[in-house]
Amino acid sequence: MPRTLVKDALNAVAPSDAILLQGWVRTRRDAKAFSFIELNDGSCLKGLQVIVDATLPDYPQVARANTGASVEIHGRLVESKGQGQKWEVVAEKFIVLGEADATYPLQKKGHSLEFLREIAHLRPRSNLFGAVFRVRSRLAYAVHQFFQEKNFFYVHTPIITASDAEGAGDMFRVTTLNVGNPPKTEQGEVDSTQDFFGKKTFLTVSGQLEGEIFATALSNIYTFGPTFRAENSHTSRHAAEFWMIEPEIAFCDLAGDMALAEEFVKYLIRDAQEHCAADLEFFSKFVDKELLTRLAFVLDRPFQRCSYTEAVEILNKCGKTWEHPVAWGDNLQSEHERYLTEEHFKCPVTVYNYPRAIKAFYMRVNDGDAPERQTVAAMDLLVPGIGEIIGGSQREERMELLKEGMALHHLAEKDYWWYLDLRRYGSVPHAGFGLGFERMLMFVTGVANIRDVIPFARTPGTAEF
Ligand code: 4AD
Ligand code: MG
Repeated sequence: MPRTLVKDALNAVAPSDAILLQGWVRTRRDAKAFSFIELNDGSCLKGLQVIVDATLPDYPQVARANTGASVEIHGRLVESKGQGQKWEVVAEKFIVLGEADATYPLQKKGHSLEFLREIAHLRPRSNLFGAVFRVRSRLAYAVHQFFQEKNFFYVHTPIITASDAEGAGDMFRVTTLNVGNPPKTEQGEVDSTQDFFGKKTFLTVSGQLEGEIFATALSNIYTFGPTFRAENSHTSRHAAEFWMIEPEIAFCDLAGDMALAEEFVKYLIRDAQEHCAADLEFFSKFVDKELLTRLAFVLDRPFQRCSYTEAVEILNKCGKTWEHPVAWGDNLQSEHERYLTEEHFKCPVTVYNYPRAIKAFYMRVNDGDAPERQTVAAMDLLVPGIGEIIGGSQREERMELLKEGMALHHLAEKDYWWYLDLRRYGSVPHAGFGLGFERMLMFVTGVANIRDVIPFARTPGTAEF
């Protein structure tokens, strides 16, 4: 007999004389004549109530079915007389597949997120993490659906790379050299020509540069993969390994880029509302009471837009004292971004046209700026509760200006010869952005720490599991 998922049993339209369920015991309550078991198999938030009658030949098994044990039940799906559920299962055969030791750490009482992080191998069995990872799976699917429906091609960009896309210098080194005793050059430096790839290599911080190669061939592409940053940030929004979605669009400018970013974020929110309603309701009950109203509000109106120069004016005129004072030319800090989206605009806001000096080398120089106030066509999408979830830009398609940008960032042209070739052969205006998948999940679920929306968090000092 094929197995029925708890989700499908709960949504049944008719009773059934023969049903097979497999899952884990959430709770068990023993009465005189029978036991109640709440069975969960991860297919949905809710468990299914199973009744095992004490007259059943298998009944002695029930004593072994502690919280956490895996069980198999053959029985009948019947209308429930109890409250809060439409269906329940009357067991006819009850088999314990794997007992749970009395040390099973997930007992009925709520556990702190910190504690659950220490048992990341078991936390997917809790209500909260089951919900988080169901939403994560659904939204990964929706990412592909969104772009595929728009005729974007999915490109697998490399994880090991020799180039630094963001120029932030916070990359993990990849090497097979003996780190205790590496080969040295005559100058006494590590001799990378003897390394596996014959040169220095790293884990990628972004698939963008390779994405541009494909956008200038297939027109519209996206990447969706893991990225790695060795920045030593101990915040609730930074992970050393995270997933990023990076569309790259040929024949597109910054305005088109910002419009696509807004459409994409709204699409993902709508998809979660539609396909993960029960899980979102759970978050709004136990994680963030404002969640559902905030998501509805965000969908309801256009995102605001504001230039960097306007943003700096707003920040300096609002009367707040900042931990990091901000003048034109400075990076916006988290406190500034949060103020703009949470207090000033009170909705998602895209800040655009940043000073050239604080942004990456590949961003397109805006025409007509005063020389001391040169800006690039960059944009960051900021959302309440998190700050930046998207960073993007129009790319510099003009060879001379791109070379100038590389010189400004002290990058050697020879290391980017293939990137420069894209400007040499059929260069086109193009633009793209990167959405941090975990930050998007934080926004959709209300979960406040990035460690709790990624199955296995990699942060400074932790790489267990
Ligand atoms: O703003 P970033 O650095 O932009 C890029 O990497 C560009 N190459 C994207 C592009 O234009 N194709 O990163 C993009 C997004 C950020 O807005 C943030 O959501 C996320 O990636 N992000 C991180 N998420 C978690 N942990 C980190 N350490 C992150 N760093 C960036
Ligand atoms: Mg950024």
